[in-house]
Amino acid sequence: MSATESLRRDHALIEKMISALKTISLLLKNGKQIPDSILNQAIDFSINFTNTCHHGKEEESLFPTLEKKGMPREGGPIARMLYEHEITKELANSIISSTKIYIASGEQAELVKNIDEYVQHVSLHISKENQRLFVMADMLLNDQETLVNDNLTRLEKEKFDKIGNSREYYEKLIDNINLNE
Ligand SMILES: [Fe+2]
Ligand SMILES: [Fe+2]
Repeated sequence: MSATESLRRDHALIEKMISALKTISLLLKNGKQIPDSILNQAIDFSINFTNTCHHGKEEESLFPTLEKKGMPREGGPIARMLYEHEITKELANSIISSTKIYIASGEQAELVKNIDEYVQHVSLHISKENQRLFVMADMLLNDQETLVNDNLTRLEKEKFDKIGNSREYYEKLIDNINLNE
């Protein structure tokens, strides 16, 4: 087990959503209709799973643990990742606004643009974490892997309790979205 195992598992699920969003964007570009329920599920996942649960685990558990190990908060990879989480939130909010417009009027141009920006930003963010930050974290925290993972699991449970859904719910949601494509 590595210290970042639980977070890498989240990334694998988020990447499945990214692939569903790519298909949604392509279908919209080809003039196909996307059901409201699919768009609302994608938004639910982005807000609750990605922003609240996954970013919460990084910001409230992993990053402070890395700071304690001497990684500076300012001017380094942690500051960069925090900034990118803010951008992720803004891009998700743009998708929410343009989804409302799409549902009300069928106008898809803005939604396609927002989905494409979101897909590009989140894909890059995940690959930076997987290939750089998490590699450093696995080395720095290799003497406390169980403790780090236990803390992440506890925080994840707290987040899901607040959201009122479970990890299994979001795993099924992803499977459904991919089936419906
Ligand atoms: Fe992140
Ligand atoms: Fe992440």
